[in-house]
Order: sequence, then C-alpha cells, then structure tokens
Amino acid sequence: MSEETILIVGAGHAGVQAAVRLREVEWGGRVVLIDPDGHVPYERPPLSKDFLKHGASDDVPPLRRDGYYQEKGIELVAARAARINPVQRRVLLATGAELGYTKLILAPGSAARTLTVPGAELAGIHQLKTREDALALKQSLVPGARVAIIGAGYIGLEVAAAAAALGCETTVLEFQDRVMSRVTSGPVSRFFEQLHGAHGTRFVFGAAVTEIRGEGKVEEIVTADGTVYPADVVVAGIGVVPLEGLAAQAGLHTEDGVVVDADSRTSDPHIYAAGDATRLICAEEGISRRLESIQSAVAQAIDAANHIMGATAAQREVPWFWTIQHGVRLQTAGLRHPDDDVVVRGDAGTAPFSVLYLRDGRLSAIDTIGSLKDFTQGKKLIAAGAAVDPRLAADPTIKLADAVRDLVAERS
Ligand code: NAI
Repeated sequence: MSEETILIVGAGHAGVQAAVRLREVEWGGRVVLIDPDGHVPYERPPLSKDFLKHGASDDVPPLRRDGYYQEKGIELVAARAARINPVQRRVLLATGAELGYTKLILAPGSAARTLTVPGAELAGIHQLKTREDALALKQSLVPGARVAIIGAGYIGLEVAAAAAALGCETTVLEFQDRVMSRVTSGPVSRFFEQLHGAHGTRFVFGAAVTEIRGEGKVEEIVTADGTVYPADVVVAGIGVVPLEGLAAQAGLHTEDGVVVDADSRTSDPHIYAAGDATRLICAEEGISRRLESIQSAVAQAIDAANHIMGATAAQREVPWFWTIQHGVRLQTAGLRHPDDDVVVRGDAGTAPFSVLYLRDGRLSAIDTIGSLKDFTQGKKLIAAGAAVDPRLAADPTIKLADAVRDLVAERS
C-alpha cells in the first residue's frame, strides 16, 4: 500500500499551520503543501504596513525559517490544484500530475474582490493580496502621486497611511458613511478618520465609483454624482471573496465559504478546510460566520490536524484582530454586533481609549486604541462571559476587571 498522505491546498497562514501541527502531533505519513505561488510561504500582515514604508526591504518575513520544511519532511509543491476527485481521493494539479490523499485540507484563502466598472482593466489600478501586488504598489507610491483608494477598510486605511507618509496626495472613496464600518463602531471610525485627516488624507463617503477613465492608464475616477477625481494610482481595497470553487466542484457543502464544523470538517469525511475560504456553521451555538483573520485561520488549521489525529477541538479562542495606522494600534477582541450597546471608555477623540460592546449586559467585544491592558483584560472577560457595569467600565481610571458584575462559567 502507498504511504499515507495528507495533502494541503494553499500555503498561506492556515495551510502552513496545518502542516506544522501535523508534524507536532506526530503524523508519520507524507505531508504535501500545494500552492501555485512558488515562493517560500510568507507573512501577509507586513504587506500593507512596513513593506510599503520608505526604504523598506522588498523581502517579506517567511512564515517558517529557512530549512524548516525540509527538516520536518513537509513537501512543497509549486502548482495549482485544479480538481478534486473525492471518490478516488485524488487531487489533479494544473500541471497534469495527480496526487492521492488519505486526508485533504483545503486552505486556499480568499481573493481580493475586483472592480467591475468600465475602465477597471486600466494600468495603474492595484489590489493588495500578494507580495507581487505589494511590490507593484510600492513602486507607484512616489512623492506627489495622486493616489485614490477605493474602500476604507483595513487595506484602504493601511495603504492610505503608507501613501500619506510617502508624500502622496491621498484620497479615500468609501461607499459607506464612515471608515471600517464592517469591523467597528462610530466612535472608533471617527477617531481614525480624524487621524488620517490630520495626515492629509481626504475622505469621500457615500462614494459609488461608476467609471475609471484614462488613455491606456488610469487618469481619473468618476462617481455616481458625476464628480471626477484625478488619480495617477488607484488602489481597490473593497473586500475579499472566499475561494470555494475547488470545494464546490467536488460537491462539498459551500455557502459563501466552504462549510466547516468546530473540528474544521467539511461535508466530506476525508476533507477538512481552514482559513479565509471557510464558513463555520455550528447549529447548537447558533453560529454561521466567515472570519477573515489569521488567528482564526491558524486555530482552524490546528483543529483540523488535531482531529485527523483523533482529538476534538479545543475551547475556541475569542477572535481577535489588529491594525496599525499612522503608528496607532487598534486591537479588537470578540465579535461586535451592530445592535450591541456601545460604551466609550475614556475620551474617544484621544488615544488611548477603548470602546466596549455589550449584549444583554455582557461584554461581547472590545476595541482598544493604544491600550494593550484593556485588550488583554477585555479578551479574558469576553471569554468568561462577564456582565459589566457600563458606568464603571466607562471610567478609564477603574480597572476593567473591577467593572465586572458577574461571570458565567461557560461562554455562550
Ligand atoms: P474590508 O472588508 O475590510 O473593507 C472593504 C471596504 O470597502 C468596506 O469599508 C466597504 O464598505 C468598501 N467598499 C466595498 N465596495 C466598495 C465600492 N465599490 N466602492 C467604495 N467602497 C467599497 O476589506 P479590505 O480592506 O479590502 O481587506 C481585505 C482583506 O484583507 C480582509 O479580509 C481583511 O481582514 C484583510 N486585511 C486585514 C488587515 C488587518 O487585519 N490589519 C490588514 C489588511 C488586510
């Protein structure tokens, strides 16, 4: 019989972590990481931050040190997985080669959503997902360049900070009425809008881009109200779409993401999935969510490897996220719901401050701006299901832990 093999599709944060974990839990068979990229797997967070800074190296930190994969017997295959045959348990590569698997872990990630307006194919329009994307963008962020960024999410704002620092004339066009509306509340949005404004970035909200014009390369952007914005460089940071095509073609359950359970199992008992491509559905807990975060990708990858080796998932960690813009760090723990009660802790105009989100009196999420202490305590309190006194919690001179009314043993 041929050697037992685990194939992993995608060598991003999730795929690499799955391979690492399999060796940690002493999977003795082959581990094969398949990714078309061909580079040594690398960190993504610096691409929209330090990598773009003046004088920064064009190298990105690798996810594991030189020689790691060889040492651990993890095979890297530079190819695109084209098709899965779940009956025969084989993956067909775009090169024509076929690999059999005992278990398959899908970690293909997500793709940057692309603009669909007329002119979207013009030269000078960037997205930011890979090292190549970041390199191309870095080369066009020259002093004085007119940079128009579409989307005021994480990518848009981190790029705006880099562009402004590099001396570009920076405009952000956002569909919604505030920045980072997907991930945070009004007070935090306003703080970051002001921060960027103070560094010269202009915001246009409610902006629906209808056309990009230029002779061969981008020259201007037109919005639905007829306004024309001159631009030498355009960056689209308008979200991502989960790469679920391979899974769907193989007949797996997909629902805007490859559906997985708490052990990262898909609807096929021999196939797992982790990372941006997945949607976690857990009916008992009333959860159906797609999380775009490294922390979640890594946890799902560990759960997949553990489950393959016969262990069930550990207690789920409270989700957390972070971004840094103009040197100010926003750290978020938990998942905010738009209907949550909002408690501002400190002065929302001046860092450090935090914003707490309460659901039925219990802490569901916290945004901390420059306060590692609140982040660390908040994360623990969310995990503990803490009910907090909003009046005490609003006072930054009182420790968050001292604003707790009661704790529940288990988080719902
Ligand atoms: P995002 O979902 O954070 O933000 C997209 C923004 O674009 C939203 O504010 C949305 O309203 C706006 N938008 C969408 N379509 C638009 C349109 N046609 N015109 C104008 N505005 C439009 O997605 P983003 O920033 O592209 O980030 C992509 C991925 O990268 C996400 O998964 C994100 O989590 C990840 N990322 C995370 C970072 C972090 O955690 N610090 C940093 C960079 C990226």
